[in-house]
Amino acid sequence: MKILHSVRSVQKLTSQIRSEGKVIGFVPTMGYLHEGHLSLMRTARKKCNYLFVSIFVNPTQFGPNEDFSKYPRDFRRDRLLCEKEKVDFIFFPDSEKMYPENYSTYVEVHNITEILEGSHRPRHFRGVATIVLKLFNIIQPDFAVFGQKDAQQVAVIRKMVSDLNVNTKIIVNPTVREEDGLAMSSRNVYLNGKQRKDASVLYKALKYAERKILTPGYNRDLGFIKEQMGKLIKSRPTVTGVDYISFNREDNLQEVTSLKNFKKGRLLISLAVRFGKIRLIDNIVVSVNL
Ligand code: PAF
Repeated sequence: MKILHSVRSVQKLTSQIRSEGKVIGFVPTMGYLHEGHLSLMRTARKKCNYLFVSIFVNPTQFGPNEDFSKYPRDFRRDRLLCEKEKVDFIFFPDSEKMYPENYSTYVEVHNITEILEGSHRPRHFRGVATIVLKLFNIIQPDFAVFGQKDAQQVAVIRKMVSDLNVNTKIIVNPTVREEDGLAMSSRNVYLNGKQRKDASVLYKALKYAERKILTPGYNRDLGFIKEQMGKLIKSRPTVTGVDYISFNREDNLQEVTSLKNFKKGRLLISLAVRFGKIRLIDNIVVSVNL
């Protein structure tokens, strides 16, 4: 496994690989790798000749009051984990290389970035779309693997790739969960014991909604289900706020307020909940066929 820092060296290498007709798979990450990231690497490993992983805590996707400087980092550990997953190349650039002085080009994906996460983190998806397009331009992957845990990020990247004719296929892996259902996230390390215990309520609330929606005879009123989910989540003492609980079409993220208008299709149920300063997101997708 090789560690590459410079944009030029990666571009030279990937042009060479592509000219040989070999397949490049890519997993973009911000490091502090966990089982969720490793599952993305395993999916990618099976489908490519050369597997690239990027490790870059991207400053442009953090808001001014967010945890950029405190975001957990441990390159030595990440490197060992990548080695175990038979990664061929880690791209580990410096911030100054990705965003030199006077950097001024950003990617904005309208309509699907203003809602859900976007309404609480106004510039987040601009930063995500920008860095992902930059990484795609540098690595030129045939495909890239993302996690379903960040469902809106997936929708934004899919839209960007389609709108800008980017020649990279997007593959989505299911969310990897702890035994009690908590979705794996680098931010889980911030939770104290009580918060960690309470955090399992997020998946419970999502599964409650799924049961209600899928079981004939249950009350399928989405307003009622949302209210019950909120009550369940707030019953955990360390929960300090629910930013949103939302029902949306999975493909274009249009809000679904009633199942009367959504009898068939993939319904994204997502939420964001605060435990003190720690903010966790989660989602599930339900196949509705009423
Ligand atoms: O999902 C993440 O870790 C990040 O948003 C990504 C895609 C690596 C871009 O910085």
